[in-house]
Amino acid sequence: MVVVQQDRRPFVASAPGKVIMFGEHAVVYGKSAIAGSVDMRAYALVVPHSGHAVRLVLPDIGVDIAFDGRRLPRVQPGALAHPGDVETLLAEGIDVPDGPGRMAALVFVYLYGSLVADTGAQGFSICVRSLLPVGAGLGSSAAYSVALSAALLQLTGQLHGDGASEGDRRLINGWAFQGEQVAHGTPSGIDNSVATYGGFLEYTKGRDPAPLQSTRALRVVITNTNVPKSTKALVAGVRALRDAHPAIVDSILDAIHSVSTTAAELFQAPDADDSDAEQRLHDIVRVNHGLLMALGVSHPSLERVRDIAARYRMASKLTGAGGGGCALTLVPSGAPKSATAEVAAAMAADGFECYDTVVGGAGVSIAYAVGAESIEAWIGKQSSDPVAVFAALPAATIASLAPSL
Ligand code: MEV
Repeated sequence: MVVVQQDRRPFVASAPGKVIMFGEHAVVYGKSAIAGSVDMRAYALVVPHSGHAVRLVLPDIGVDIAFDGRRLPRVQPGALAHPGDVETLLAEGIDVPDGPGRMAALVFVYLYGSLVADTGAQGFSICVRSLLPVGAGLGSSAAYSVALSAALLQLTGQLHGDGASEGDRRLINGWAFQGEQVAHGTPSGIDNSVATYGGFLEYTKGRDPAPLQSTRALRVVITNTNVPKSTKALVAGVRALRDAHPAIVDSILDAIHSVSTTAAELFQAPDADDSDAEQRLHDIVRVNHGLLMALGVSHPSLERVRDIAARYRMASKLTGAGGGGCALTLVPSGAPKSATAEVAAAMAADGFECYDTVVGGAGVSIAYAVGAESIEAWIGKQSSDPVAVFAALPAATIASLAPSL
């Protein structure tokens, strides 16, 4: 048995979602893509307690499971052919209900079995809430997996810098990737890398994602058209077009690659003239959308978003697979808050959902309540501190999570 030093204080581990800034579809053909973290996060509140009861509460998707932590054997490295085989670990007394939350519960079971089971750690309750819309291509499952991995590694004393050191991040990212494999089979790893490291990443298939040393954070309105899309069908459509017109499509994919490499240079140029860099970013957002449209993956709803943004002299592009789903609109850095509110209101009038975000902010983080402050005071803080999101938790949920406080 691996015996851990367990810190008994409650804490919150959180991780951001992601948006693909440039390079979607071209990335399938080995070209570069750039993704950035969004300031909408998943938050995992951990409350250790005595005994061996383990409880997972996901209020947004109706999951509330509890089991005796001693009933779950440790998942030894290599014991499963693939993390997705986690269902074989479910023993009597560990009841994971069917429904929308099943996958999220299985990710927890896998990470618990790998990181906590048989460490002598005592019981705890964990409640995860997320501000990320599910299924919108904003990396909600990766944010969940990163927050959960960070929470369980911190709980069992396996992190050395509260999630901030390079070693901690590598460890969190590796486990979060396994959590993503439980949920998605064969993910590329870009979503969990962005959620762990934050900022912007350059991603090329078959290589480790490369964090860009950028100090630039971008103001972006993300618009969910609420038009359902099939990533598989859209990727297949681009493939069919390429089979029919290889020379034309390859030059479009090469042009998208140049957009991504230009973006990487712009993000990393320390002394770029800001207004010039901003104009160039505006240009490549517009160009990237045009190239994606030429590949046949836009949609009337996405063109509508682009038209509305253009009325406010802002550039928009689809993000993710296209065919509906989400678009991003770059907000000029000097634009007043009222300008984004106006664009968002114009888009909302067409039935779209808008999120006023900052892209390129912090990755995974762990925060403790200060001193002996009660959990009620902690979650009620009126500040920009991310833990303030827990003010939104119903009092009854908090009370049941923290019976000893
Ligand atoms: C989907 O979010 C991004 C695509 O490039 C597909 C992929 O990279 O697997 C369209």
